[in-house]
Amino acid sequence: MTHARHTAAVQLTGVTKTFGEGDASVTALDGVDLTISPGELVVILGPSGSGKTTLCNVIGGIESADAGTVVVAGDEIGDRKPADLAGFRREHIGFVFQFFNLIPTLTARENVAVIVEMTGRGDAGDVDQLLDSVGLADRADNFPSQLSGGQQQRVAVARALATDPDILLADEPTGALDLHTGKQILALLQDLSASGRTVMIITHNQSVAQIADRVVTLVDGSVVSDETNDAPASAEDVTW
Ligand SMILES: Nc1ncnc2c1ncn2[C@@H]1O[C@H](COP(=O)(O)OP(=O)(O)O)[C@@H](O)[C@H]1O
Ligand SMILES: [Mg+2]
Repeated sequence: MTHARHTAAVQLTGVTKTFGEGDASVTALDGVDLTISPGELVVILGPSGSGKTTLCNVIGGIESADAGTVVVAGDEIGDRKPADLAGFRREHIGFVFQFFNLIPTLTARENVAVIVEMTGRGDAGDVDQLLDSVGLADRADNFPSQLSGGQQQRVAVARALATDPDILLADEPTGALDLHTGKQILALLQDLSASGRTVMIITHNQSVAQIADRVVTLVDGSVVSDETNDAPASAEDVTW
């Protein structure tokens, strides 16, 4: 599906999310306004507990907001039922997680193929192409346990791309990786953004923010700064 250029990739207005009740309640998101344009590479930066994962999950249709509106690729997702949300995710969102979340009993190729089959998007030929695009053509028949962390994360990126999502949401994608491998994953995400994909990287790591077009900082569920990066660093040049 194509969308008009002026359609925001993500538009959040007054998004609030509270967990728990009464004295035990935690406001994870407290009136977040955020508009992200197609093709932007946005880093959501903030300390642990600041609401980053909740923001990611609200945009991705995993959690619903208590108040406010969430529009992704022109679709308002606020009042959708769970089954519709699953459809929304299939159509619009690719997820990458800190701990890869691959299926251990499936090979790299099968981990990607299962998504293509489940969603009916793409075809079998695309699977090898996707693995090739993340530099893993020669490891397609390996199981996750036979791959390094960085290689597993590449499979996870290939899997996330299998539905040709409007937005790639990566929640702490380098959190379980060493510096060298983490940078390779960031370079991959930066390349995807350069080729027009909207990419959101959620991280507590300030160094990662250097590669972004834009850095949105969350503290206690609120956006405390939203800055455009005029000269994003290349992922290879970042260190932490
Ligand atoms: N499912 C949940 N139930 C209760 N509290 C939650 C839940 N998810 C997140 N929280 C709370 O919401 C706040 C924000 O969490 P989170 O979005 O995971 O932050 P971050 O990803 O920045 O570490 C934290 O105080 C966390 O404990
Ligand atoms: Mg988190």
